[in-house]
Amino acid sequence: MAVQRTFSIIKPDAVAKNVVGEITSRFEKAGLRIVASKMVQLSEREAGGFYAEHKERPFFKDLVSFMTSGPVIVQVLEGENAIALNRELMGATNPKEAEAGTIRADFAVSIDENAVHGSDSEAAAAREISYFFAATEVCDRIR
Ligand code: TYD
Ligand code: MG
Repeated sequence: MAVQRTFSIIKPDAVAKNVVGEITSRFEKAGLRIVASKMVQLSEREAGGFYAEHKERPFFKDLVSFMTSGPVIVQVLEGENAIALNRELMGATNPKEAEAGTIRADFAVSIDENAVHGSDSEAAAAREISYFFAATEVCDRIR
């Protein structure tokens, strides 16, 4: 499996709970490296654009409202099989269905406030990374 980059958001609920370090530590312990990271307060326009694929879904308005309710940490994670590995670490979208030991099982309580976002494909990772980071803000892998 090749080295990949994936895009992660530590969402407002997790930032508010002060578990940014604990979540980041899970990425590191699994062998992913942080190659870009910043805290940002999303505008409605930024959050809506990021989740454009869901704009016709009934939860879209609440999702944008939640994602703009406080600051988030956006990160680029790099490692072997990073996209699928991060999705495994995250657990199911609904924390009630997430496997024990996953980030969502441990840090989230509801499907609408579920602690983390992670890209679900190579195309999504490329789009999402460039949505938040200039190429010069993503560092080369430390070898
Ligand atoms: P989705 O892309 O399906 O999940 P994931 O984050 O696991 O890739 O949905 C995006 C976000 O939309 C999800 O993290 C939380 C929110 N959402 C709801 O609030 N209610 C829902 O029923 C679904 C499916 C998603
Ligand atoms: Mg998704």
